[in-house]
Amino acid sequence: MEELLSRMTLEEKVGQLNLVSGNHAVTGPFAPQSVRDAILKGQAGGLFNVYGAEYTRSLQAMALTETRLGVPLLLGFDVLHGYRTILPIPLGQAASWDMEAIQAGERVSATEASAAGVNWIFAPMVDVTRDPRWGRVAEGSGESAWLGAQIAAARVHGLEGQSLSAPDSVASCVKHFAGNGATEAGRDYSALDLSERALREQQLPPFKAAVDADARCVMAAFNAVDGVPGVANERLLRDILRKEWGFRGIVVSDFGAIGELPVHGVAEDGFDASRIAFQAGTDMDMESRSYVGSLPLLVREGLVDGGLLDDSVRRILQLKEDLGLFDQPFGRSDEKREAEVIGSAQHKAVALALAEKSLVLLKNDREVLPFAVTAKSVAVIGPLGDAGADTLGPWAAHGDPNAAITLKEGIAQVLGPSARVTALAAGSVERSTAADIASAVRLAATADVVVLALGEHATQSGEAASRASLDLPGDQLSLARAVLALGKPTAVVLFNGRPLTIEDLDRDAPAILEAWFPGSEGGLAVARTLFGLNEPTGRLPISFPRSVGQIPIYHDHLPTGRPAAETYKPYTSAYIDLPSTPLYPFGYGLSYARFEMGEPRLDRLRMVGSQSVQVTVDVTNVGPRPGTAQAQLYIRHKVARLSRPVRELRGMGRVTLKPGEAGVISFTLKESDLAYWQPGGRFAAPDVGGPVEVHVGPDSGRTRMTVLEYRPSSAMVQQPARVDTARPTP
Ligand code: BGC
Repeated sequence: MEELLSRMTLEEKVGQLNLVSGNHAVTGPFAPQSVRDAILKGQAGGLFNVYGAEYTRSLQAMALTETRLGVPLLLGFDVLHGYRTILPIPLGQAASWDMEAIQAGERVSATEASAAGVNWIFAPMVDVTRDPRWGRVAEGSGESAWLGAQIAAARVHGLEGQSLSAPDSVASCVKHFAGNGATEAGRDYSALDLSERALREQQLPPFKAAVDADARCVMAAFNAVDGVPGVANERLLRDILRKEWGFRGIVVSDFGAIGELPVHGVAEDGFDASRIAFQAGTDMDMESRSYVGSLPLLVREGLVDGGLLDDSVRRILQLKEDLGLFDQPFGRSDEKREAEVIGSAQHKAVALALAEKSLVLLKNDREVLPFAVTAKSVAVIGPLGDAGADTLGPWAAHGDPNAAITLKEGIAQVLGPSARVTALAAGSVERSTAADIASAVRLAATADVVVLALGEHATQSGEAASRASLDLPGDQLSLARAVLALGKPTAVVLFNGRPLTIEDLDRDAPAILEAWFPGSEGGLAVARTLFGLNEPTGRLPISFPRSVGQIPIYHDHLPTGRPAAETYKPYTSAYIDLPSTPLYPFGYGLSYARFEMGEPRLDRLRMVGSQSVQVTVDVTNVGPRPGTAQAQLYIRHKVARLSRPVRELRGMGRVTLKPGEAGVISFTLKESDLAYWQPGGRFAAPDVGGPVEVHVGPDSGRTRMTVLEYRPSSAMVQQPARVDTARPTP
């Protein structure tokens, strides 16, 4: 590699730092002439938005044979939840709380994308999100930094596989570093203000977990933290990421973000922007073309350190080498493998399993669900009952909306030809007329069971899809009310990329199943669940507010001296016009089975230093159906030098029980689980020790508690608990 570096001209070095986008046409992706020129001139280290074995091979061949040095290209693509086989949106996947299933999903993404020549995926998105107005909550894992860290590690392992050089592995790119999830008022690209503690405890843990899992790329964010945009943030990129965490991969800017520095008001012009971003630690420039236009001159003039340039180029070449691109540049662009693996039955099975695990039962009065499979006629009413693209969701990569199993199709598959399954959109997501609603009521009146398929369009979530209202769009609530008034056995299925404010619907509908955007097998997963072939086991990874006015609302908030009471009390931290609790709390989700959970027990009442403590809880299945009980473990430092959150998630466990059967769910609590960001600038359990409440329950709103006494053995420096998920076995 050093030899290659020594042969590079200054322009060729800077070329490696340039990342350019291909374009899309009806026939698929293509590289316009300007992109081809960039490759031929050695001015592209990588391309993105390119895929397809034949096409990517032609691009790679151009770089290898028609440029002076023949350096292979990084070929990137946003594969957020599947390449062709589309998995549920990441927020839905997070609702599974199942790391193995999520990792298996990422293996599917990596296997399919790599067969199509992609060697670098701009995922996982690990921003911790507490404002559902932000459309990008769909791409993340919700509001818990702890859950987000487990998922981040699982995703990196799934994408990068056993060995990065394997033809079915891709480099992951963790994004958006940092603080993007805390974007102000849920507005995309907006600045934010985070205390050091909020940054360290709420936003950074999933990034740290991803780096520990050996993620090979980090994407620097658009947004500013404390006035400094992500791509210009030396403290984040060099001090924390590289020096503190030992990150050895590459840092790429978000799309055009270097070119936006003058708009932020932190750079005078393009030259200044390049200098600032590069010195701050952004190795690669995605699409602003600032580096190619200005870095050679900046280095020649001595305004940018040539040594730093060599370091960045080395990192990019190293990644290419680790991906096996020098030895086997065409290893991933493989038409045969592309034909075999893309959309394979095995991949569909993984997507179906993950979609089933992502579903969250929000309400089920009088056990309306599951419906009997003997139903002879089903009315699927609402704009999302037979909508392919909306079943896939935002950022659906190369997914095929026509191949997605919609809810109507899924129900027809489950019930077979003897049942009549009729779908009626009854208007659109945006609007239903009185006539639309009247036809829906007429159809519903003829059916044995009714499914209301409501929610958002896929395009109402994702990037650039912030919403100021989180109500069901259009006239869907009126539609639902008219149909519900018939009193038929009815379930609402919600398709959405974020929590919606559905207090009215919750009051009126007997059953609500949260389906998120469930992916290409999604309609089948939902249908199997509605008709009892699958038990809903998903749990909310993000709180559902009652009203937008409650935002931000999340489980691990700080206490106040005047906590809200259960019913309104003046001069407490409460609203006069709304309860202060969410509609559905973090961790919430019902089962078809019914369980009773006991009090948590500890195997020792005192944790001294690094001794671990076993926490157990008894669970009994008290209903008539078998099912999987789930418990979550939260801690709260009861007395500390500073106020600590009222709940912090530290574990989750499950046990499957037959009717009448009793079982135990256990957790291990370690000293590192008690660590938080200390005033001196390190993670540690409190050096003075103290009482810690241990809460266990089915969700963050219904826990029972016992107290553990913590005593440090000596003053110790700790990092947040390291996330250990296994790399996949070959
Ligand atoms: C998004 C990134 C994405 C990039 C490339 C940007 O607008 O913020 O998440 O990876 O585009 O498509």
